[in-house]
Amino acid sequence: MLPALEERMIDVMTTSTGSSEAFQIPLEAAEYYEAAFVPAFFAQWAPVLCDDAGVSPGQTVLDVACGTGIVARTAAELVVPDGKVTGVDLNDAMLTVARRVGPGLDWRQGDAADLPFPDESFDVALCQMALMFFPEPAAAVREMARVVTRAGTVGVLVPGSLEHQPAFAPLVEMIVGHAGEEARSLLSTYFLCGDVDELGRVFESAGLEVTTSRTQAGIYGAPSVDAAVTTEVESTPLAERISDDVYRRIRDDAQDVLAPFTTADGGLAAPFECNIVTAHRR
Ligand SMILES: C[S@@+](CC[C@H](N)C(=O)[O-])C[C@H]1O[C@@H](n2cnc3c(N)ncnc32)[C@H](O)[C@@H]1O
Repeated sequence: MLPALEERMIDVMTTSTGSSEAFQIPLEAAEYYEAAFVPAFFAQWAPVLCDDAGVSPGQTVLDVACGTGIVARTAAELVVPDGKVTGVDLNDAMLTVARRVGPGLDWRQGDAADLPFPDESFDVALCQMALMFFPEPAAAVREMARVVTRAGTVGVLVPGSLEHQPAFAPLVEMIVGHAGEEARSLLSTYFLCGDVDELGRVFESAGLEVTTSRTQAGIYGAPSVDAAVTTEVESTPLAERISDDVYRRIRDDAQDVLAPFTTADGGLAAPFECNIVTAHRR
C-alpha cells in the first residue's frame, strides 16, 4: 500500500472534525481498511460487543461510527429473522464499502454527536473502537442513550488504557526515549477512553445505568513488527517530527521490544486489551 494512502486511511480512524465535508477519505483507503484492518484486528471484537449487549432475534440495532460495518453485519446475523440493523458513520467512503459488503442493511451518513434518528428508535445502540476519536465522547454517549428505547441497551467497546497494554506500553516508552515526551500524547489517541471507571461515569452522566463493565484480552495482528511500527508512527504527526536517524533507531529497537509477540512466520500477534461497557436507561 502507498504510504500516503495508508496515512489518509488512518486519518479516518484517528481524526474526527465533526464535519462530514472535512472528513472524507478515498474509497480505496476504505477498501483497504475492510480488506486488511477488519480481519486483522476489528472483526474479533464485534461478537464480544454484540454478546455483552445481548443482541438477540427481532431487535433493532444501531451501529454508531460503523466504518465498513463489521459490528452491523455481526448484529444482523443475531437479529434474524425479523430484526433490523442500521449503521451510521460520518465517512462516505466507509459507507460505500459498508453498502457493498452488507447490501441488505440500512446505512446512513451522520455524526455520532447528532444522530439522525428520532428518540427511542432502537433496542440496542453499539459503538466499537471509535468513541476515543470523537471530539466529545460524552455527547455521543448521550445521543446513543437518546435513540434507544426505555428498555434499550447501549454498548461501547474501546481500547483499554495504555499502561495495561503489554506490547504497546513498552513500545511507546521506547519511542518516547528516542523521540521525546511529545511522542507520548501523539501515540496515545487510541487509548484515550481506556479508564473504564471514567467511561462508566460518562454513561451515568448520560442517564444510563451501567450493567456490565469489563476488560477483555485480544490480539493486534500485523504482517511484521516493521509494518506495525510504520502504522503506529506514520498515522500520527510524529513521522514528520523525527529525523531519519531517530526513525531508524525506533524501527531497530522495536524488533527487540516486540520480539516476545512475534510469530514463526515473522508476523506480529501482540496482546491488546479492550474495555466493554453496556448500560440501560435509568
Ligand atoms: C477505527 S474506525 C471503527 C469502525 C468500526 N466501528 C469498526 O469497528 O470497524 C472509526 C470510525 O469512526 C468514524 N467516525 C469518527 N468520528 C465520527 C463521528 N463524529 N461520527 C460518526 N462516525 C465517526 C470514522 O469514519 C471511522 O469509520
